[in-house]
Amino acid sequence: MTPTPSYSLIVDDMKAVDAVIRSRLHSEVVLVRQVAEYIIAAGGKRLRPALLLLAAGAVGYRGTHHHELAAVVEFIHTATLLHDDVVDESDLRRGRDTANALFGNAASVLVGDFLYSRAFQMMVSVGSMRVMEILADATNIIAEGEVLQLMNCHNADIDIPSYLQVIRFKTAKLFEAATRLGGVLGGADGEVEEGLARYGMHLGTAFQLIDDVLDYSGDEAETGKHLGDDLAEGKATLPLIHVMRSGTTEQGACVRRAIESGGRDDFPKVLAAVRTSGALDAARANARSEVQLATDALLSLQPSIFKDSLLELANFAVARRF
Ligand code: IPE
Ligand code: IPE
Ligand code: MG
Ligand code: MG
Repeated sequence: MTPTPSYSLIVDDMKAVDAVIRSRLHSEVVLVRQVAEYIIAAGGKRLRPALLLLAAGAVGYRGTHHHELAAVVEFIHTATLLHDDVVDESDLRRGRDTANALFGNAASVLVGDFLYSRAFQMMVSVGSMRVMEILADATNIIAEGEVLQLMNCHNADIDIPSYLQVIRFKTAKLFEAATRLGGVLGGADGEVEEGLARYGMHLGTAFQLIDDVLDYSGDEAETGKHLGDDLAEGKATLPLIHVMRSGTTEQGACVRRAIESGGRDDFPKVLAAVRTSGALDAARANARSEVQLATDALLSLQPSIFKDSLLELANFAVARRF
């Protein structure tokens, strides 16, 4: 079970979100229940719902839709994980066998679709066209991000702007939607809503940069995922791009070959190159710059304990080991 960051300010809200998640998982179809409950019961950090709740709190929201929408965001996230593990051929997530490893690719893809469409049923129940627009756009961009990433597999020549576009689409967009929705629920003015959205976008970018660092530096007992999954798929993530730009000629050539061939055979050599070339520190520094931009984006937000908590979560995104 993945440990979670402390959400002291929203403990009761997070319990309410958990109750919504459990009740909305229901299906008469046994396999849907089995697969969906399997991945949800494994936990996860629940970062995206927490961000939505904190953003709503920071703009003084007092209504009742935030629990439902926080659950929607977690369902969309979970659907992307089910699909992502099939595409990435991953077999460990949240410290357990992935759903695809246990139930097969077909069941994972189809139950991912169930979660996406259940999320859309739930967001309709909130009855706001603006909310639906934000979530429909985010979901569409995430799909584009995953396809862009697929197109760039085994491409050792990918440049940093293209890499950043992939992670903004596949990961940061949902963070952006979560924090923007908090603002929209609370009726924030345009400037505050945009600030919250930018905060989410930069935070999500930093979060994925660190995820890509952890794929070479993490402790599997903490991340609950296998190291080397990115290399196995031939993904030229930022740590590898840094080695190719600033490592020795041999290190660069080794990384290039490994990206082009994929698989796990070259992983020990690539790991050594990544760890000794300073590439991980360079990628962490990029993540810290994103967190600074996230923090700056909250300038127009009134001071509050919710704002403090958002700032704290931005730091968690780079300091995290899981
Ligand atoms: C995993 O997200 C996918 C990425 C965007 C890197 P999380 O690290 O938030 O996954 P859980 O929900 O905590 O397992
Ligand atoms: C994040 O990318 C994927 C999604 C946005 C679903 P990764 O492929 O790096 O995520 P993990 O490492 O499998 O969690
Ligand atoms: Mg993956
Ligand atoms: Mg990853």
